[in-house]
Amino acid sequence: MWEKLRGKRLMFVGDSLNRGQWISMVCLLQSVIPADKKSMTPNAQLTIFRAEEYNATVEFLWAPLLVESNSDDPVNHRLSERIIRPDSVLKHSSQWEHADILIFNSYLWWRQGPVKLLWSSEENGNCEELDGLGAMELAMGAWADWVASKVIPQKKRVFFVTTSPTHFWSQEWEPGSEGNCYNQMRPITSEGYWGSASDLPTMRMVDKVLSGLGSKVSVINITQLSEYRKDGHPSIYRKFWETLSPQQLANPASYSDCIHWCLPGVPDVWNELIFHFL
Ligand SMILES: *[C@@H]1O[C@H](CO)[C@@H](O)[C@H](O)[C@H]1NC(C)=O
Ligand SMILES: *[C@@H]1O[C@H](CO)[C@@H](O)[C@H](O)[C@H]1NC(C)=O
Repeated sequence: MWEKLRGKRLMFVGDSLNRGQWISMVCLLQSVIPADKKSMTPNAQLTIFRAEEYNATVEFLWAPLLVESNSDDPVNHRLSERIIRPDSVLKHSSQWEHADILIFNSYLWWRQGPVKLLWSSEENGNCEELDGLGAMELAMGAWADWVASKVIPQKKRVFFVTTSPTHFWSQEWEPGSEGNCYNQMRPITSEGYWGSASDLPTMRMVDKVLSGLGSKVSVINITQLSEYRKDGHPSIYRKFWETLSPQQLANPASYSDCIHWCLPGVPDVWNELIFHFL
C-alpha cells in the first residue's frame, strides 16, 4: 500500500464512520514506519498522518454533510440543529482538491429530522427547511458537480463509501427479542439480511448520483457485507464523553454504541476493498 501511496495524499472526507475507516487505514499502515519517520498532526478539522520516507499522507477531513454547514467543527456541533449551505462545497473542496485519492461518505447525519437550508443568495433571509433525504440530494448534487467538473480520472481517484449499517433493534434479526447490538457475539447468518436503518430510497438516490459520474467515481459498496456484523460494534466498550448515570449503568444496552465499529474489525475490510481498487 505504501508503494501505491508514494508521493501521494490519500484523504478521507466525511463523518465519524469515515473517521473510523481512516483510523483503520492508519492502524493497518503505520506499524511498518519507524517511529522517527512518522507523525500525526493534532486533532482538527483536517488531521494528517505523515510517512516521511514515502512522502505520503493519510488524512481525514471532517465534513459530515459534504457541503458547508454549521456542523463543520469536529467537536462543537449539534446534530439537532443542522444548517447547510446547499450550494457551497467550496470551503471544503479547497481543502480536499489537492489530494490524489479521495474517499467520501455521508449518510447518518441526514437521518434525523429536517435540515435547514441557507442559500448564498439569501444570506439574511429565513432558512427554508427540507427533509433529510431532500437535503442530502442537494448536497450530493453540489458534490457531484465538483467531481464532474474537477476530477480527471487518470490523475485523481475518487471513491464513495455507501451506508454503514447500524444495529439498534435486535427484533429485526431475532423476532420477539428486545435488545440491540449489546452482548451480540456472532454475525447474522441469514443471507441477504438488510436492516431497516439502511434506507432504500437514500440508497437509490445515491446510486443515481454516482452512476451519473461514470468512471470519475468508484463505489465502495459496504452495506450488505457489513449488515451481518451486529457483533462488530463497540457497544459499551468505548470512551463515553459524558458521565453515565446509575440508571444507564444498570442497563448497558441503553448506552451501547451500535453505530461505530471496533478496530481491528469491519472497516479494515472496507480498506482492503480500496486497496484492491488502487
Ligand atoms: C512529495 O509529495 C508532494 C505531493 O503530495 C509533491 O508535491 C512533492 O513534490 C513531493 N516531494 C518529493 C521530494 O518527492
Ligand atoms: C450497493 O449494494 C446494494 C445491494 O447490496 C444495492 O442495492 C445498491 O444499489 C448498491 N449501491 C451502489 C451505490 O452501488
